[in-house]
Amino acid sequence: MNANDRPLGQPTATYESVFMKACRRESVPHTPVWFMRQAGRSLPEYRKVREGIPMLESCMRPELVAEITLQPVRRHNVDAAIYFSDIVVPLKAIGVDLDIKPGVGPVVENPIRSRADLAQLRDLTPEDVSYITEAIGLLTAELGETPLIGFAGAPFTLASYLVEGGPSRNHEHTKALMYGDPQLWADLLDRLAEITATFLKVQIEAGASAVQLFDSWVGALAPADYRRSVMPASTKVFQAVEGYGVPRIHFGVGTGELLGLLGEAGADVVGVDWRVPLDEAARRVGPGKALQGNLDPAVLFSSTEAVETKTQEVLDAAAGLEGHIFNLGHGVLPSTDPDALTRLVEYVHTRTAR
Ligand code: CP3
Repeated sequence: MNANDRPLGQPTATYESVFMKACRRESVPHTPVWFMRQAGRSLPEYRKVREGIPMLESCMRPELVAEITLQPVRRHNVDAAIYFSDIVVPLKAIGVDLDIKPGVGPVVENPIRSRADLAQLRDLTPEDVSYITEAIGLLTAELGETPLIGFAGAPFTLASYLVEGGPSRNHEHTKALMYGDPQLWADLLDRLAEITATFLKVQIEAGASAVQLFDSWVGALAPADYRRSVMPASTKVFQAVEGYGVPRIHFGVGTGELLGLLGEAGADVVGVDWRVPLDEAARRVGPGKALQGNLDPAVLFSSTEAVETKTQEVLDAAAGLEGHIFNLGHGVLPSTDPDALTRLVEYVHTRTAR
């Protein structure tokens, strides 16, 4: 690879970092580690700086965003930072009336259930989220060679909040729309794909080294429905950012039966939850993709010895992979002991040193 292959003047040290190499399935000195939700309530320094500031407001303050993003990097020695934001930020930015309620999650005032409701979704422009460009500028100056992962919610997961009006166990309104009015559903997902693509482009152009598309709740679907009703929109998002040459990670929870399709949608790295061992996940995904995962976040509540045993199981299952990025199978749980996370990073780095 020569320097001209690096996207957007990314520093050589970042491009050659362990995390970026693993995404490209190149050989690495040790397995890289980062954690979904590594920034957040597990850290006392996070709770301190967030005091009295509502979640969505904190996402719009560049200095605060930079500080919160850096906290877990300083503390845990992880191999990548993830930009501090939320999947509903682009929706808020285009004027959708929503809020993030503590302990609940995103709540939408006027759920989208008819064609007229679609009017809530105008195009996103980079100016709508100028605080992101500013925050990423601050971050890349501070991060040195540590790559910054940008992210967005995938069209299905965003649609599930917009259609239900909030978090949902069974996604009944979402599925009613998907099965009952396929054309409106397709139009909704296509609008969300456009918004999501712009949101990711802003982050990449500001300096994000990789992007992750969170389709957290898509495990609620059977493969045939995913392929027909969701995959076209997620594929559109991945295609829109393909030209930048940054690694694209695709993750969802409970997606054992969808892993092959998550890769096929256009990912370079497929995120796996804890329900499928990584060697089996590799068979389902097929060659040419790296895998990310997959320690059960609840394991961190057990003894250090048990955490090490379960971590070693993950590393053993990953031994034959082309590229492995160690992560949890879903986000850090808020009451996790942060020292357990620091020890976990150290354990993976030591055990995989080559
Ligand atoms: O470190 C990181 O990973 C970056 C931070 C991040 C947040 N949200 C911050 C946040 C990321 C990557 C997200 C993405 C996100 N948001 C997803 C996809 C990832 C996943 O977990 O599957 C989803 C589904 C959401 C929607 C959402 N936002 C939920 C379900 C919640 C939790 C509600 C609660 O209070 O328990 C949020 C709020 C949220 N997003 C918090 C944080 C740190 C908690 C709010 C707070 O700290 O006050």
